[in-house]
Amino acid sequence: MKKILLIILTTIVVLANSEELYKNCAGCHGENGELSALGQSKIIVGQDKNLSIKQLTAYKNGELNKYGLGNIMQLQLMALSKNNIQELAEYISKMPVKSFSN
Ligand code: HEC
Repeated sequence: MKKILLIILTTIVVLANSEELYKNCAGCHGENGELSALGQSKIIVGQDKNLSIKQLTAYKNGELNKYGLGNIMQLQLMALSKNNIQELAEYISKMPVKSFSN
């Protein structure tokens, strides 16, 4: 019983944390991941977790620059740990894809 409670609590904490982390991304990628950041990036909502981990790690290391704006993403990721990146990637992959009017 205690174990189950602990698992539930941990899940809530991780979820709250990734939601908190994503707030730093929402300005460009949209609250629901529905925007093309600065009119350049792909729309990231629902994106595969492993792809996000790969891309975010590469941006952090200055190794990805798809549209000439990779340094902007590098700045976003400088302070984030490997764990933070995994949490964010998981969060993005589970974001609900809503239908947008445009
Ligand atoms: C200041 C605006 C801005 C913020 C804030 C921002 N991004 Fe980005 N993001 C961009 C831009 C611009 C690109 C395209 C970069 C390039 O040229 O490769 C991008 C690219 C990406 C991509 C790759 C999309 C593709 O086109 O394949 C992912 C995934 C991503 N961002 C996730 C995040 C996450 C997660 C955060 C929060 C930690 C974040 N971004 C914060 C502007 C931003």
